[in-house]
Amino acid sequence: MKKGLFITFEGIDGAGKSTQINMLRDYFEKKGISVVITREPGGTDIGNKIRTILLDKENTALSATAELLLYYADRAQHINECIVPALESGKYVICDRYYDSSYAYQRAGRGIDISVLDKLNSIVVKDAKRDITFLLDISLASSESRITSRGEARDRLEAEGNTFKQNVREGFLEQARLCPDRIRTINAMQSPDKIFEDILHELNDIKL
Ligand code: TYD
Repeated sequence: MKKGLFITFEGIDGAGKSTQINMLRDYFEKKGISVVITREPGGTDIGNKIRTILLDKENTALSATAELLLYYADRAQHINECIVPALESGKYVICDRYYDSSYAYQRAGRGIDISVLDKLNSIVVKDAKRDITFLLDISLASSESRITSRGEARDRLEAEGNTFKQNVREGFLEQARLCPDRIRTINAMQSPDKIFEDILHELNDIKL
């Protein structure tokens, strides 16, 4: 199926993914490579409607299972409508979050059994697997101060407590330990330029 390259960015909220994604896009485009930037949740029109439900702070009654399935509904649409066509046409796809986020937030954070996520992946993701993942790692304290300094109201996930957030961060780090070739952990408590330098260093280290 695949001809392009599929890169994902992960990390807890406030890790600075957007800045790095834009820098990487510029880097590839200067080399003449066509890049598609997308995100989860919300990489399609339908996905944006699902995103609104997921991030709405009023939805305190949303159950962990309903939350999980909404992320996977968004993902199913995103894969069919955006990711697979872009990869098939030879483009590089850079995605802000993918199913590593479900393993961190819904498994490590909410406690959903890993077998449920593995099963959903076999139905939804199939062979739309990512080639490289950059995990931008920051401390909980940095995450909190970056979210606060944005000056915007917190969304439903950002409003979660510290135990949840710590579990999510540890969930990401655990996945990185399990998949050291694919997931490259970057210290994101540095300047944007230094973070990008580290990303390029890892990119060059990976056999594409
Ligand atoms: P995002 O748009 O990355 O938020 P931000 O721009 O604030 O970093 O992601 C929205 C939220 O959804 C984020 O808190 C992480 C969460 N999320 C999950 O819980 N599970 C998932 O599978 C995905 C993709 C995101």
